[in-house]
Amino acid sequence: MVPGMYPYITARTAHFDGLFQEALSEGFGQIVILGAGYDTRALRFESGKVRTTVFELDAPATRQYKRQCLAKAGMDAPDGVRSASVDLKETDWPSTLETLGHRPSEPTVFFMEGLLMYLDADTIDGILASIRQSAAAGSRIVFDATARSVVDGTGDQYGAKGVMARASDHGETFLSGIEPEEMPEFLRAKGFTVRTHLLSEDLEKRFLGDFDPSLIGPISGCFTNVVAEVS
Ligand SMILES: C[S@@+](CC[C@H](N)C(=O)[O-])C[C@H]1O[C@@H](n2cnc3c(N)ncnc32)[C@H](O)[C@@H]1O
Repeated sequence: MVPGMYPYITARTAHFDGLFQEALSEGFGQIVILGAGYDTRALRFESGKVRTTVFELDAPATRQYKRQCLAKAGMDAPDGVRSASVDLKETDWPSTLETLGHRPSEPTVFFMEGLLMYLDADTIDGILASIRQSAAAGSRIVFDATARSVVDGTGDQYGAKGVMARASDHGETFLSGIEPEEMPEFLRAKGFTVRTHLLSEDLEKRFLGDFDPSLIGPISGCFTNVVAEVS
C-alpha cells in the first residue's frame, strides 16, 4: 500500500466503528451511509436489533457487486437495512432516501467515509446543502476529508505524493480537498458545527497507540476525520 495508508485505514475504521456504535447506543433511529461501498457495519453491529434503520446509498455497480458478495457468502442484509442505487452528483438522492422510508423529521447520522475526495466541490456543496435543508435538529455528519494541498500537489504531508499517484493509477483521481484549518469555517458557512475534528496525529494517538510503530509505520498525513452537527 501507499505509505501511511494501511495505518490510516486501520485508524479510520476503528474511529468510524466507534461512531456507528455510539449512534446506536445514543438511540438514533436512522443512519444513512452515503457511498456505502462494502461497508459491513450494519451486519457487524446488528443495528436491526436496536431498532435503528440503516440506509445504504451507492453507485449501481458497487451496490450490485456488494449484493453478489453477500449472496455468495450466504449472508442476507440484516433486518432494518435498506439500500438503493443513486448518483450523488444528482440532487434527487434525498427523495430516493425517502422512498426507502427515511424520515427527514427525525434525527439521522450521515456517514460519508472515503467519499468526499472523489467528488468535485459543487457536488460536495450540493450534498451538504441537501442534508442541511432536510435533516432534523440533532442530526450529524461523519466524514473524512483530504487536504486541498494534497490534491493540488503543493502539500508535503507524509504519503501525499503516493496517495495521489495511486488514486490516479486506479482511475479514481481525488477531485477536491479542504485544508484542515479551514474546516470549522467551511462547515459553519454550510450550517454545521464541528463536534470533533481529528488530524492524523490525533488518529495515531487515539487509535494506534497500542501498535508497535515499527510494525505499522506512521499514519498518512493527508486526511482528517470530522463529526459535525446541524447548527
Ligand atoms: C472509496 S469507496 C468508500 C466505500 C466505503 N464508504 C468505505 O469506506 O469502505 C467510495 C464509494 O463512493 C461511491 N461513489 C463515488 N462516487 C459516487 C457517486 N457519484 N454516487 C454514488 N456513489 C458514489 C463508490 O461507488 C464507492 O462505493
